[in-house]
This record gives sequence, C-alpha cells and structure tokens, in this order.
Amino acid sequence: MKLSNKDVIDYLKKASEILHENKEYLTDLDSAIGDADHGINMDRGFQTVLKNLSMLEGKDVGAILKAVGMYLVSTVGGASGPLYGTAFIQAGSVLAGKFEIDEKDIVKAMQAALDGIVMRGKAEKGDKTMIDTIAPALEELKKSLSDGLDLTEALERTVKAAEEGMKSTIPMLAKKGRASYLGERSIGYQDPGATSSYLLIKLMLDVIKEKTKK
Ligand SMILES: Nc1ncnc2c1ncn2[C@@H]1O[C@H](COP(=O)(O)OP(=O)(O)O)[C@@H](O)[C@H]1O
Ligand SMILES: [Mg+2]
Repeated sequence: MKLSNKDVIDYLKKASEILHENKEYLTDLDSAIGDADHGINMDRGFQTVLKNLSMLEGKDVGAILKAVGMYLVSTVGGASGPLYGTAFIQAGSVLAGKFEIDEKDIVKAMQAALDGIVMRGKAEKGDKTMIDTIAPALEELKKSLSDGLDLTEALERTVKAAEEGMKSTIPMLAKKGRASYLGERSIGYQDPGATSSYLLIKLMLDVIKEKTKK
C-alpha cells in the first residue's frame, strides 16, 4: 500500500474538518480538568493548516508535515501546540524527500512523532496525556504489521488500541500539564489531548479505507 503526497494533503484537509466538528467536545473535556480551550486550540491550528494547504500541494510528504508542525507551533498555543507541532515536525523530518510512503514509513513517522512529544513534554505512559493514546496505538501498529496484516487491518487494530488508550486515561491521575494541578480531582475524566490524538489516528484508517474503496 502506497500513499502519495496528495493523500497526505487529503488527510490534513479532513483532519481540519474533524477537529472543527469536535471543537466543542474537546473543549468540554478540557473544561473538566483544564482551562476549556483544547478544542479551540486544535481548531485554530488546523484552520490555519487548511488555509495554507494549497501552498503545500506538490511538495514532498516530509516538507508538508514539517510545514504543518510549524503552523501548529505558531497558532495552537497552550501545551498542545508545541507538542503536536513537534510531533508533525519530527514525523516530517523522517519522511523528507518522499513523495510516496508505505507502511514502514507510517511506523517511522509515528515513532518520530511520539519521540518528539516525549522529548518535549517529558511525560510517560500513565501520566494522563496524549501519550496514553499514541504509545499503545503505535505498539499495536508495529505488532499487527509484523504479524503480516495489511495496512487496513493493522490500522483497524491500531484504532482499537488508541481508543482503549484514550479511555484508559479516565481513571488516571494527571501527572503532567494543567490537569496535574488538580491532583486527585483529575481522576474520572477523559484526557482531552488523548482524545484529539484518537481522532487523528482514527482518521488515518478512514482515509485509507476511502482510498482503497476507489
Ligand atoms: N507534558 C505533556 N506531555 C504530553 N502531553 C501533554 C503534556 N502536557 C499536556 N499535555 C496534553 O495537552 C492537553 C491539553 O492541551 P491544551 O488544553 O490545548 O493546552 P493547555 O493545557 O495549555 O490549556 C492535555 O489533555 C494533554 O493530553
Ligand atoms: Mg487547555
């Protein structure tokens, strides 16, 4: 399975739509354990991406993702701006010069994104952050591909792992970010960043399914 730079642009366009649709949902989650802006932040960032997307058409996947990361760093704000920004910049740097990517490239890019988030935010699995979605999803993607599943099947399992990871943040006590100021009172709520990460991972599956249908 090969994905082109055009598919990546398509993914980003849809990401801006999904995050716009989920703006209130993400902000509501953040109002319980944060400052009620995660949906607003993500929507602002991805609307900027959307506005600039036509300028990125025809560029290689690495350049596209790097540019997206820069837009996110400069417009999302909050904790999630630099974290998602770094994630996209790092993913872009391992895909530099590629106009087509395959399964292995997706794993490499997700690994680089996760490493970037960890490097920047110093959070670990279990701290009630986006890492609790991304880390188990990536583990499942690697495992499913090495078990010989095709990309769509592997991503089906990846999305399930991401969803479980997202839900696993509910009983967690937040140890990083704004929610950590609440201590015990952060328990019982789903982490907003873990939720936006789930939406972005699920969209990978949806875009690939759509492409294979054609
Ligand atoms: N150190 C960190 N590492 C990873 N993710 C983090 C970290 N700190 C916060 N987050 C994520 O950022 C999300 C909050 O984003 P957002 O509301 O946009 O920023 P802010 O907390 O500055 O208002 C959290 O739900 C969490 O998933
Ligand atoms: Mg917030």
